[in-house]
Amino acid sequence: MIQQWIENFSPKDSLPGDMVQFLKLHGHPKTAAHCHAVGKKAAEIARQYAADPRQAQTAGWLHDISAVIPNPERLEFARAHNLEILTEETAFPMLLHQKISVVLAQQIFNVTDPTILSAIGCHTTLKPQSSLLDRVVFLADKIAWDQPGQPPYLPELLAALETSLDNAILVYLDYLWEILATSGVRHPWFIQARNELHASSTAGSF
Ligand SMILES: [Fe+2]
Ligand SMILES: [Fe+2]
Repeated sequence: MIQQWIENFSPKDSLPGDMVQFLKLHGHPKTAAHCHAVGKKAAEIARQYAADPRQAQTAGWLHDISAVIPNPERLEFARAHNLEILTEETAFPMLLHQKISVVLAQQIFNVTDPTILSAIGCHTTLKPQSSLLDRVVFLADKIAWDQPGQPPYLPELLAALETSLDNAILVYLDYLWEILATSGVRHPWFIQARNELHASSTAGSF
């Protein structure tokens, strides 16, 4: 299933150039620009919160690499690669794109670092017991978002980020909680991560 995606792809074993080439090849130049921006922002936050900027940058560059696989094909791809598929992901296959990006990062971009792969694999929902790098990349994706205009939560999130990574993440998770009250599905990883961060923020934040 990977073969069809690497036809005409000529990797130079260097990022972010290979990521840009790959996404443009499949007609996703905007995603390439977004991934580039997330890589840069992730490195910046990593420096601020003592994570590894190179790992953060790599995860940011590749986090949305699965944009090349259309939504209707994501369930089939996930099944073919034996990925765990949750009920919420069957209902809303867009939620699978974080896990599919992990497969492409491994099989096409030869990423083996489990810390980087973990951050790619939870960049949309976060997850319980997230690592520092998971949280850095998650937040970078929400700051350098892929929609037009400025995210409505951005001013509050950036103010929180000056003193606490976890509080900044909670600004976004709480925003999403409200949005999903009326539409969409709440992914269990998102629910658990939010509960966990709320519990730890009352006990003393990161
Ligand atoms: Fe994404
Ligand atoms: Fe993204």
